[in-house]
Amino acid sequence: MKYVYSLGAVIALMLIAWFGSLIPGMQYFFGVAVPYLAIVIFLGGFAWKIWDWAKSPVPFSIQTTCGQAKSLDFIPHNRLEAPNTNTEVIARMALEILTFRSLFRHTKADVYAGPKLTYESAKWLWLFALIFHYSFLVIVIRHLRLFLEPVPAPIVWLDWADSLFEMGLPTLYLTDAGLLIGLLFLFARRLFTRPVRYMSLFNDYFPLFLLLAIGITGVLMRMVFRGGIDIAAIKAMGVGLVTFSPVVSPDISAIFYVHLFLVCALLIYFPFSKLMHLGGVFLSPTRNMRNNTREVRHVNPWNPDIKPHSYAAYEDEFREYMVEAGIPVEKELEPQKEAAEPA
Ligand code: HEM
Repeated sequence: MKYVYSLGAVIALMLIAWFGSLIPGMQYFFGVAVPYLAIVIFLGGFAWKIWDWAKSPVPFSIQTTCGQAKSLDFIPHNRLEAPNTNTEVIARMALEILTFRSLFRHTKADVYAGPKLTYESAKWLWLFALIFHYSFLVIVIRHLRLFLEPVPAPIVWLDWADSLFEMGLPTLYLTDAGLLIGLLFLFARRLFTRPVRYMSLFNDYFPLFLLLAIGITGVLMRMVFRGGIDIAAIKAMGVGLVTFSPVVSPDISAIFYVHLFLVCALLIYFPFSKLMHLGGVFLSPTRNMRNNTREVRHVNPWNPDIKPHSYAAYEDEFREYMVEAGIPVEKELEPQKEAAEPA
């Protein structure tokens, strides 16, 4: 039942925007003030978080490896699993960021009668996570048409490619289906996989519901409440926002303000949530470091400057006193030179 609170929070946000935007004069608040505030918190919070991570000291090379490190020439080196050069690190990072490579290896633990514990291949999480993330990215890029005039050609092409399948009228974008299906799978996983359900908290469900609500209100605007959506007025507002000359039209329907308010809530929530993995993945020392610990001795730079003092040197320094105190020594005292005979 933990998800009920997250669902309740998202419904409360929707009601605030819906009824709030119906109050005369409040369109400026929901259409201009809240978006600017959200952008400032998002950018400031994002930068602060990145700065905080970037200044955390990483004195040792602590990359995660799962392959043979560079060693003697006749031992094959696994360049992607234990990268030794910057190029190899970049290749590994690119595969991780673009294809979620480590998630591809995710296994599902199950207990069978016996009891017998098994780890089985489970590619579903990887597949739906990939579908969701790419759909989200394409939707955000496509939305730039609401903020840019003229609309750059690549965005027009992307729009065209995304609606190629001509599902419904007006056309439902492929990425709209991808976003909603991906999110529903991620939610179902939390709900029906017992260990995952046990671990899931408010902050796991909240972003899922928030994104689902953004997606659903977006699709509703496009497919159902088309009549109440004056795209020209919304575009004037979007362009006004990015050119710092905001305008609001009284004719925009409440569902648009709900959509926009949820996006603002997402922006405000983002830097303080697990969604910051967007920036964090680049700063993960287990991924972005070279596995060169056999080649380079990594010395902690803030170790105190202690001069080495070997036992041999110690004994040289204190031998006389040690002998005097009856402590065994490794090297005997040099015999005392005979005192010179007086002339
Ligand atoms: C996290 C960011 C956002 C997400 C994930 C999102 C998601 C969506 C989705 C899935 C749709 C359905 C149609 C489509 O895919 O184009 C949509 C439509 C729409 N969104 Fe967003 N949206 C976001 C941000 C915004 C913002 C900031 C605005 C403010 C201008 C906005 C305004 C609209 C409008 C006006 C439509 C209807 C477009 C149409 O009828 O073709 N969205 N949104």
